[in-house]
This record gives sequence, structure tokens and C-alpha cells, in this order.
Amino acid sequence: MFQDEVRRAAEILRSATRVVAFTGAGVSAESGIATFRGAGGLWEGQRIEEVASPHAFAADPVHVWRFYDQRRTNVAKVRPNPAHEVLAAWQERFPNYTLVTQNVDGLHQGAGSRRVVELHGSLWRVRCTGCGREREDRTAPLPALPPRCAECGAFERPGVVWFGEALPAEAFLGAESAAEACEVLVVVGTSAVVYPAAGLVAVAAAVGAKVIEVNPEASALAHLADVTLRGPAGAMLPQVDAMLAGG
Ligand code: OAD
Repeated sequence: MFQDEVRRAAEILRSATRVVAFTGAGVSAESGIATFRGAGGLWEGQRIEEVASPHAFAADPVHVWRFYDQRRTNVAKVRPNPAHEVLAAWQERFPNYTLVTQNVDGLHQGAGSRRVVELHGSLWRVRCTGCGREREDRTAPLPALPPRCAECGAFERPGVVWFGEALPAEAFLGAESAAEACEVLVVVGTSAVVYPAAGLVAVAAAVGAKVIEVNPEASALAHLADVTLRGPAGAMLPQVDAMLAGG
């Protein structure tokens, strides 16, 4: 039966030129990165809010940095999976393609995606809490926590969006206008409960775009999907891609 859904997804995509892929933690699950909302909302032994908020950082920057240093170290050891690879290959397939992610792991770029709209920032960027200078840093683990700004000496913080913070405006506006203009939105591996990111699905649906959901479980916005691929992204997306390539 899911073969029918794979075929429908491929049919919808075959004639499309304006395509948006919107991903969440589930796209990296098969690479070995834990998702956020499995196992009772604990993530690597932590409540997300206790390590992912400006308040937590102000109270204990070393604790927060240990958590992010561990995440960076874990991600540095893993490889992109076939789902990341298909979503990268689609930049060649569709004339107007936007890849929007809530993930901070950089695995889309690792698979060859050249332009990724990162709504929640990146683990590989750090930002000075004093002068605001941003830089890329791929050292994992970091030699000293918290890292300090080479310009002004203040603590640096992870370049990710925390609870209670605004999304980077340029990224969000870019994602929103791509969703408003798209013919097909492929939603992969997100529970679709964190706003404003999840709102992109309703934006696309409202302008009449077809929505394809790829997720082993129903997301909060599964009712907006025209086609549902109930399985792991690393298995489902290559099947859709093979059918697309097969003509
Ligand atoms: P969640 O952990 O909330 O959801 C992960 C989704 O992936 C679930 O719907 C799973 O069913 C699905 N999933 C699991 N394995 C999968 C697989 N192999 N293939 C496809 N899907 C799979 O993660 P997100 O929706 O990304 O925000 O969470 C959104 C935001 O909440 C994150 O970006 C983060 C977090 O708070 C910030 O840090 C700002």
C-alpha cells in the first residue's frame, strides 16, 4: 500500500518546479542523532529547556556549553544518511528548490546541500555575548569551556536559537516566502509542534501547495498532508527519488 503513496508522491513531484523541503530531527535519526521528543521529552539526559534557554546560559554557562560540546562531538562522529543525500540531489532536479531545516547539526550541508535555510541556527557557529561577533568553529570537543571571544574576551555562546528567542529574521522570511510560492512542500521528520517553524506547513497548504509528509508517525500537522509516507526518511525518500528518476 505504501507503494501507492510513493507513486503518488513521485507523480506530484514530477511536474513540480517550485519545491520546498522542510526537515526536522527525524531526518538525522538514521544517522544516529537522537530526536527531541522521543523517550519522555528528555534529550541526552537533559530537559531541553534546562540547557536551551538564555536563562540557563546566564545561570550556568559551563553547564550549557558542556551539553552543546557533547552534541557537537556526537554529530562530528556521524555521517549524513540517504535522506540527506536525496534532499541534496533535489537541488539539481528542481529549478526552484529551497531546503529549510530546523536542525542545527549541519548534516544537510555534509550531504552536499549548498544552500540550507537554518531556522534554528547551527551547532558549528558561535557568537560573542559581548560584541556579537560570529564565527564558524568546527573543533569538537572544544579545548576550554566556555570559549572566549578573541576580540573582546567575553564568553561566546552556541549559535543556535534557544527557547524564548526569535528566529533569525532573514532565514525565517526566506522560508516563509518560499513556502508561499511553492507547489509542493515535503515535510520530513518533524513533529511540527514548535512554532513559528511549524507554521510553514499551514502557509504552503493555504496557498494550495501539495503537502507530502515523510514520518514513521503522524505529526501534529499530518491532517494537512495530501500524501503520507509512513516510514523512515532514509528508506522512503530514496524510493520516491528512484521513481522520479525512473520517469
Ligand atoms: P522532534 O523530536 O519533535 O520530532 C522528530 C520527528 O521525527 C517525530 O515526528 C518522529 O516521528 C520523526 N522521526 C523519527 N525517526 C524518523 C525517521 N527515521 N525518519 C523520519 N522521521 C522520523 O524534532 P523536531 O520536530 O525537529 O528547536 O523538533 C523541532 C524543534 O524542537 C527543534 O528544532 C528544536 C526542538 O526544541 C530548537 O532547538 C529551537
